[in-house]
Amino acid sequence: MNSDARPRTPVPPSRLPDVGTTIFTVMSALAARHGAVNLGQGFPDFDCDAGLVDAVTAAMRAGHNQYPPMAGVPALRQALAAKIERLHGHSYDPDSEITITAGATQAILTAVLAFVHPGDEVIVLEPCYDSYGPAVALAGGRLVRVPLDPQSFRIDFDRLAAALTPRTRALIVNTPHNPTGTAWTEDDRRTLAELLRPTDVIVLSDEVYEHTVFDGRRHASVSGDAELAARSLVISSFGKTFHVTGWKVGHVAAPRPLMAEFRKVHQFNVFTVNTPMQHGLAAWLADPAHYEGLADFYQRKRDRFRAGLQAATRFELLPCAGSYFQCVDYGRISPLPDQAFCEWLTTEAGVAAIPLSAFTAAAPSRPVVRFCFAKTDATLDEALRRLARL
Ligand SMILES: Cc1ncc(COP(=O)(O)O)c(C=O)c1O
Repeated sequence: MNSDARPRTPVPPSRLPDVGTTIFTVMSALAARHGAVNLGQGFPDFDCDAGLVDAVTAAMRAGHNQYPPMAGVPALRQALAAKIERLHGHSYDPDSEITITAGATQAILTAVLAFVHPGDEVIVLEPCYDSYGPAVALAGGRLVRVPLDPQSFRIDFDRLAAALTPRTRALIVNTPHNPTGTAWTEDDRRTLAELLRPTDVIVLSDEVYEHTVFDGRRHASVSGDAELAARSLVISSFGKTFHVTGWKVGHVAAPRPLMAEFRKVHQFNVFTVNTPMQHGLAAWLADPAHYEGLADFYQRKRDRFRAGLQAATRFELLPCAGSYFQCVDYGRISPLPDQAFCEWLTTEAGVAAIPLSAFTAAAPSRPVVRFCFAKTDATLDEALRRLARL
């Protein structure tokens, strides 16, 4: 061997050649460089309840520090089964139909890897959360993108029906919706159940914002419709519900045969999720007030932010029925494409947002950006003060 030869790092062809640095990272870095108020990335800038931290600390002190059972701490699975039954009337067996995951992202990837064979088609409704496409690509599936209605961002059931083929293995849905803030009605849910009735399509239902539905409306979980529940994996995340996005603990509920396959992959993917957090969350879930107040909490923030935008800016506000995102049409302010507009907004106005195109393959037909209002009132007020010049 040539003694001058440097050690060589072989770089195999990428499994995800189209994936680069995400716009979320780019915008956050730009926001930090320019001292902008960051309403881009979707996480709270305030802390979780100290009682929840105490519950986790108590679990650590009580010695809950070794591997839990593969499917998750039983007390947490039981608490989730009871909650789902109380809220949506569907009974899942905590032993065989509920699994605790390392956040919703792991649950989505695990579900896709468990069910999608190379060449299978998986339908996503665009705009959509950015992990769905790469998950399907890693499984060797074919991603079929069906646009939501470009004005209302509701499901266009005719287009969805047209996209279904005998090769459709799964449909990934999300309500309340990131990025657009729409939330299903019970009619949407029924229409979907009817559309899928003659098919063998599995539904992956991303419901991480399940407790953030506004104006007195109820979250239309797929678990609340017996027909849909029978073909669905219902995915959620404690990160969004308890302001602990950094803990990365989520959960999946599904009928036993689907959960058995999910667990085969979960077992060799993460095997288990950190133990003390699970004990702490189980104790915290015992009091429904800990999640039942969430919708009011975020509704007040939504209203404060919307009122400020309405009063002092030329943004056109899109409806926000759920989630913690407010989308706006900036067509009256700038002719720029959405990413360029977000860069301009960050550097010139001092507020970071995320362009709608971050959630779509094709350029969106409407000039829309997304603000996250999971922020302290002081952060929201400062953002509004800066945006008021526009
Ligand atoms: C729609 C949606 N799904 C999944 C996730 C990821 O959740 P987790 O942090 O639990 O992986 C997010 C986070 O922003 C999201 O908005």
